[in-house]
Amino acid sequence: MADYSEYSDVELYHKFHKSHVFKPEAAEYVKRSIRKLFGKKKITALEIGAGTGHHTKRISELKNVCILATEPDPKYFAKLTEYLKGRKNVKFLKGRAESLVMKRKFDIVLSFDSHHHIPFKNRKKYLSNIRKLLKTGGKYIIEDEIISDYKNNSQRINGLKKLHNFVIADSERKGNKALVYLERIYLKKAIAQQGEYKTSCKKLEKELSENGFKIDKKKHIGPAGKDWGVFVYVTEPI
Ligand SMILES: C[S@@+](CC[C@H](N)C(=O)[O-])C[C@H]1O[C@@H](n2cnc3c(N)ncnc32)[C@H](O)[C@@H]1O
Repeated sequence: MADYSEYSDVELYHKFHKSHVFKPEAAEYVKRSIRKLFGKKKITALEIGAGTGHHTKRISELKNVCILATEPDPKYFAKLTEYLKGRKNVKFLKGRAESLVMKRKFDIVLSFDSHHHIPFKNRKKYLSNIRKLLKTGGKYIIEDEIISDYKNNSQRINGLKKLHNFVIADSERKGNKALVYLERIYLKKAIAQQGEYKTSCKKLEKELSENGFKIDKKKHIGPAGKDWGVFVYVTEPI
């Protein structure tokens, strides 16, 4: 399987992805949810596909949360460890989410824009692994980019175009040319289903339910009034 850095340059990603529309708000919502669920209790979190660590850093501001940040791509992993070295509540592990094997279990598993990188054919194995990695009562929290529901491939492609063109327009307004460049690549990859497997709320919810996860909370972060964009799901195995 190809690494993310083959089409998403790690330095560009690290420098220009931080201000991606709705992502800081989504991280704040996840932080509030963790606070509501666990208060100041010391808890452990496993982060899937941590990238270069933008969200890891945000979540690590919760000092009661000890994060094991995992990432399979060697270049992203190197940047992640360099960026967050010295953070007492962040540890690192190189690995692909479907095949992470550990004896220990976690209070939460976090996925920021990583769930849609797991190929559809691996989702069953992936969710079964997440279940094994969670303590009883543990939560799987997904922040992801979602497209409108679709009945065929041409509707799927239209949904992808709506989502990515919105981010491209926002990045153009902000003068973030690097993100415009990256988003155009992500759109092509998503259309071809090469490394990017974005789907609709309806299909994601079906996938979660079929694999034994129930949804405790669903929050649409934006853009307002749409059935697509950035969403956060707080889920748990049943
Ligand atoms: C869009 S980036 C998100 C990175 C980071 N979570 C963030 O929000 O900035 C997707 C990440 O998922 C990782 N990834 C791809 N396939 C994966 C897999 N099978 N298991 C875990 N992570 C994966 C990529 O290497 C990449 O770092």
